[in-house]
Amino acid sequence: MLLARTVPELRAAVEAARAAGKAVGLVPTMGCLHEGHLSLVDLARSRAAFTVVSIFVNPTQFGPKEDFARYPRPFEEDCRLCAARGVDVVFAPGADFYAADASTWVEETAVSQGLCGEHRPGHFRGVATVVLKLLNAARADVAVFGRKDLQQLAVIRRLVRDLDVPVEILEAPTARDSDGLAMSSRNRYLSPAERAAALVIPAALAAAASLARAGERDPAKVLAAARARLAAEPGLRLQYLELVDADTLRPAPAAEPGRAVLAVAAFAGATRLIDNLAL
Ligand code: PAJ
Repeated sequence: MLLARTVPELRAAVEAARAAGKAVGLVPTMGCLHEGHLSLVDLARSRAAFTVVSIFVNPTQFGPKEDFARYPRPFEEDCRLCAARGVDVVFAPGADFYAADASTWVEETAVSQGLCGEHRPGHFRGVATVVLKLLNAARADVAVFGRKDLQQLAVIRRLVRDLDVPVEILEAPTARDSDGLAMSSRNRYLSPAERAAALVIPAALAAAASLARAGERDPAKVLAAARARLAAEPGLRLQYLELVDADTLRPAPAAEPGRAVLAVAAFAGATRLIDNLAL
């Protein structure tokens, strides 16, 4: 496995693979890799003969009061995991991935509104900008993203469509620990008590989804079922809970299985967690 630190180093490796007739798959990450990230690697490898994982804690997607400085960076362990999973290149640029006087931004203005976009101003502008940079740097044929970050995935699909980026976006289901908690690099911030509280998030989503599966179509009733479970856990502070259409991310008119998705963000202690579940 090669470690590329600069765009020219990455390009050289990718162009050699292309010359050998290999398709290039990209898995963008911020590192602190877990089985969710690695399931994206498996999907990339099933579709492309040459796989790049990028590891870059992107400063432009963090708010001034967020956890950029303390975001976990177990870089050597990440590289070990990538090598064991058959990754060809880890692309880990430095802060100079952005020119010091960088002045160009990518801003999606529809699906990035509401949900996380409302509570993290500038976040999706940072995500869209860095993802386009990564897609261009790697000249990826396919790129893989997780459904865990529902709104991010929607923003990236729009970006690729609207700007004619020549890449196919693949999505991977949310990987969960055996207790149901969606895997996240931020889970390692959680104390045992916070983790216990966090487990109420998937439980609340599952309870609401089973109500819909039993025939309840009223979004207010489905949401109320989830909200009641969340409110009963004093260790959680709810930021948002919404039932949205999977494509537009606008409020779903009906709790219809197959279309509507429950999306939630909540704090367990100081740690912000997101999750979602299709009905
Ligand atoms: P990061 O949080 O490291 O996530 C990298 C990728 O892994 C994203 O596509 C995310 O949706 C996916 N992922 C995370 N947890 C997952 C889980 N439990 N199951 C399945 N997939 C999961 O998302 C980012 O980084 C950044 O915003 C990035 C796209 C790299 C841009 O900086």
